[in-house]
Amino acid sequence: MQVKVAVVTGGADGFGATITDRFHQEGYQVIIIDINKEKGEQKASVGPNIHFLFGDVTQQDTWEQALALARDMFGRLDIVVNNAGITGAQSPVHTKDMAEYERTFNVNVRPIFCSARSIVPFMMEQGNGVFVNITSTGCTRPRPGFAFYNASKAAVATKTMALEYAPTVRFNCIAPAVGNTSMLQASIGSGADSQERLQKIEDLLPMKRVAQPMDIANAVWYLATDQSSFVTGTTLEVDGGRGI
Ligand SMILES: NC(=O)c1ccc[n+]([C@@H]2O[C@H](COP(=O)([O-])OP(=O)(O)OC[C@H]3O[C@@H](n4cnc5c(N)ncnc54)[C@H](O)[C@@H]3O)[C@@H](O)[C@H]2O)c1
Repeated sequence: MQVKVAVVTGGADGFGATITDRFHQEGYQVIIIDINKEKGEQKASVGPNIHFLFGDVTQQDTWEQALALARDMFGRLDIVVNNAGITGAQSPVHTKDMAEYERTFNVNVRPIFCSARSIVPFMMEQGNGVFVNITSTGCTRPRPGFAFYNASKAAVATKTMALEYAPTVRFNCIAPAVGNTSMLQASIGSGADSQERLQKIEDLLPMKRVAQPMDIANAVWYLATDQSSFVTGTTLEVDGGRGI
């Protein structure tokens, strides 16, 4: 059987770690790209088919290295999951500094284009390929205090590239609302009122719970595989009904 290869950014932690597990369990070779060396190396030790590339996804060079790894080791690259992302503290715009704006857009938006610049030509030559980009319901159903983050997630430009590269390469997005990861822990904190904060967030969600990482990984699996072969340029909300 033909080996299949996926690149998952931010695969050392959070959603990305579980997306990595999902593809690994299905027999994929998975290359994770992450700036967290310790957790990335831990993740790669889970199985021989998980490969860790220590690198920053905002850098074009990192994508050239990922492509070289996939090409040299397996001769192909089927799927790119642009999952790595950052948020900032919950505070209104006038209290934020522009360094946070630069940082947020740099990490959340720039890799969408860097990845396409390096990987799409290879996929076009290969004859197929899929990108799944992780956005957020924050861009369509915002909570106050996350203006830079929400705007950056709106810029995860899937539809244009879906048109540019159809029918050979598909581009789709997943939009989570709130998920049980380090990003959530950072936003609710660890103090005495953290449970109360979590409860408030859960109350906003019709399904009355936050996403587990496997909820997101299962949706990525659908959009990345032939089960969704006629789907491109769409955003799938995996948000417990938050977007309603
Ligand atoms: N957790 C949520 O509530 C939630 C909700 C909506 C959308 N999202 C989106 O889901 C994605 C994953 O979020 P998460 O909650 O798993 O986050 P997380 O903080 O738990 O994990 C993010 C991973 O990305 C890595 N990373 C960060 N910047 C990087 C860079 N420049 N280069 C390489 N790796 C980098 C981190 O080291 C970490 O391993 C993000 O795009 C986030 O915006 C998360």
